[in-house]
Amino acid sequence: MALLPILRFPDPRLKKVAVPVSRIDDSIRKLAADMAETMYEAPGIGLAATQVDVHQRLIVIDISEEKKELRVFVNPELLRCEGAVLGEEGCLSVPGIYDKVERAERVKVKYLDLAGKACTLEAEGLLAVCIQHEIDHLNGKVFVDHLSQLKQTRIRNKLAKQARVTA
Ligand code: NI
Repeated sequence: MALLPILRFPDPRLKKVAVPVSRIDDSIRKLAADMAETMYEAPGIGLAATQVDVHQRLIVIDISEEKKELRVFVNPELLRCEGAVLGEEGCLSVPGIYDKVERAERVKVKYLDLAGKACTLEAEGLLAVCIQHEIDHLNGKVFVDHLSQLKQTRIRNKLAKQARVTA
């Protein structure tokens, strides 16, 4: 396994729309394993392939405390969204920034697992929010895109300043 570099907002590659995975083979399974390792190391609770500059529809999520419940979604698609919740979100591509985003409270998602089996999952709470956040990435969207223009400008300035300090 290998750690993968994570793209940082406002990198334009985060805006690419990912294409469906056409065949689940060893290269996809290796990518999922590398993404999981990268997510755990960061540490984070979700990662989309877009964030590691691979523009295929694949996400990994683990919201468990013990980090032992890895979920891999290939070609995830929201079938149903219900309710609304406002919760604070962060993102490995937008380090140090947290803000409130409105999401559906419950979702039903269909996807393929790494064996190529078609699955559906009904989720609520943090898992539902995380699934929506990661599918957004596959559609070229970062959580800050849900915020006001003023907030987005502030975040860009803050991140540009951080980049200068660490450069
Ligand atoms: Ni994110």
